[in-house]
Amino acid sequence: MNNLMRRAQNVQLWRKYCVKQYTTEAASAALSRGKPNYDEFIAGRQVQAQRSIVVQVSSEKSYSELYNYCSRFGSIVGAHHYCVRHDDDLHYILLEYSTAHEAAAAIDSGATNGDLSGVPVRSPFLWFKAAPGKRGPKLAPNNNNNNNIHHPPTSDLQSVDGTRQLDQEALLSQLRGAESIEQQVQLLHRHTQLNDLGVRMRFLAALQVQQAISGMFPAAQAHPFGSSVNGFGKMGCDLDLILRFDGETGGRKQSSGEPPSRLIYHTKENLSNGRSQTQRHMECFGDMLHLFLPGVCHVRRILQARVPIIKYHHEHLNLEVDLSMSNLSGFYMSELLYMFGEIDSRVRPLTFSIRRWAQACGLTNPSPGRWISNFSLTCLVMYFLQQLRQPILPTIGALVKAAEAKDVRVTEDGINCTFGRDLERVGFQSRNTSSLSELLLQFFEFYSQFDFHNRAISLNEGRQLSKPDHSAMYIVNPLEQLLNVSKNVSLEECERLRIEVRNAAWILESEVENSSLPQSERQEETWGLLNLFKHPEKAIIRPNMFFKPRMVEVSDLFEEKHQQLQSTIGPASTGEAVATAAPSVAYKNVSVRQQVQSIKAATRTELKQLRGSSSAAAAPSPSTKNRRSR
Ligand code: GTP
Ligand code: MG
Repeated sequence: MNNLMRRAQNVQLWRKYCVKQYTTEAASAALSRGKPNYDEFIAGRQVQAQRSIVVQVSSEKSYSELYNYCSRFGSIVGAHHYCVRHDDDLHYILLEYSTAHEAAAAIDSGATNGDLSGVPVRSPFLWFKAAPGKRGPKLAPNNNNNNNIHHPPTSDLQSVDGTRQLDQEALLSQLRGAESIEQQVQLLHRHTQLNDLGVRMRFLAALQVQQAISGMFPAAQAHPFGSSVNGFGKMGCDLDLILRFDGETGGRKQSSGEPPSRLIYHTKENLSNGRSQTQRHMECFGDMLHLFLPGVCHVRRILQARVPIIKYHHEHLNLEVDLSMSNLSGFYMSELLYMFGEIDSRVRPLTFSIRRWAQACGLTNPSPGRWISNFSLTCLVMYFLQQLRQPILPTIGALVKAAEAKDVRVTEDGINCTFGRDLERVGFQSRNTSSLSELLLQFFEFYSQFDFHNRAISLNEGRQLSKPDHSAMYIVNPLEQLLNVSKNVSLEECERLRIEVRNAAWILESEVENSSLPQSERQEETWGLLNLFKHPEKAIIRPNMFFKPRMVEVSDLFEEKHQQLQSTIGPASTGEAVATAAPSVAYKNVSVRQQVQSIKAATRTELKQLRGSSSAAAAPSPSTKNRRSR
């Protein structure tokens, strides 16, 4: 009964919260002010989604006609065109009205199409039918419609083909033309981050699910989380969605003056345990999405995972969606990452470069497995920024200390997600003035030295701890401190990470030196960051790759060219000779090539260390000293 009461109270508070706070313009105002906190950001985007509809058209040229038709429902304040590319290009225009009522009026005016089979569903996804009297499905462009008065749009489309990503070649050419590594990092971030339209589309996907079930579940909330909202998402990233029925997301349980209602919804008592009940519910929602929701296709149920999810593709948005019902801590984790990104403007560009590098050398992979996930990698970056002599990020412990009553969040399974949300109150100021290229190099150097074998990483304390178990990599889960975020990472993958960070440190060190030369004197077109991203053949991880024996033929390591180089350069420089000669060796088998490269990298590091340890007896070799000086 207490539970029933508590839920009833929550529902009531949540409704009040929705109506009084977030359906007003306050949240959108916070959004347009530029520095919204996470709750304001989420709520502002939700309000924006409620004011929006998506209409399939024959091309962007239909905008004028669509604008004219749809203006009858209200005032259109924004319009964005995008394409979904299948065999043909499918064109869509996202229209934003000035109020949610106007968008609702447009949706409610929708008719069913007799030609199409399927149960009619009310959703913000619509199709602009050709005006009566016109032949065929094609729409006539511009002012050729059946309304008496034509109103030209008050503004142009804000984007045309607005989700098109910069193709690889164009991106590389931008990076080649940059003036410094610093600028390359910034450009990579600017050109690959999820854009405004991408965020709008993700909030519309969430709203569609929420509205579809709102008749039966009035308190249901579908919230985007993960990289779609935490500021670390790139164009085309998946949408992580959490579906809640009790309003327990965000700061929604503020007390209000009004007493809770005495009219309590009857609910159906469920006797099975929580997990199997969630799985059963998800199965049911999965069927519902699959059978009825326009755009939803390829629905897959992954119900045995630690966090059961329904995966689907949204064909009108060209979007992969992971829907969960029981991962509130993941939602609050996104808030933590969002705050970290807001604290310092270097955090997001740096993380983008590191994620890109990891993708390029095949350390990460979109499917889950024994490799490091983007989330764990992001935690490594955050920890690196916390432990600097002049930290760039505060510890999570410091955020927890700054919490006030309004920051209290405890999930239904008892996970405490309370931390200070007001950055001014947290009062963290970094005195670190390092550039992005310095930080990038320091990141690689830091993890080259990190003792993954014995040490665990704690973002809560911003320091290393001894490892509590034998996992290859241990990152304390910031919100469930008994769990390891990187438990999935295998010993081999952890080793590969160590090798790749060493390689990257090695490459970047010489790139930093090279980048100080004027552009005209740079030897190669591919320079700076681009040399970190030069492993396209490694980008695909084949699941069985690491079951194969990893032995390498010794003869593979020694080729004529090495010997020639060694004889010209001399024995003291063997490490460099191997490095210089490496690209000229052609291996038939990719996996052998990778192994050889790994062994060479490890040998170079050992050589470096040997030189270091012999420096007590002799002065360091000039070449080593020069390479190290910055
Ligand atoms: P991409 O999807 O690769 O772009 O990154 P992502 O950050 O969205 O990662 P993912 O989809 O794997 O996870 C979504 C979100 O769930 C993350 O951003 C975290 O907020 C949260 N999350 C994932 N794994 C964990 C975990 O082990 N613990 C906690 N507390 N949260 C997690
Ligand atoms: Mg994600």
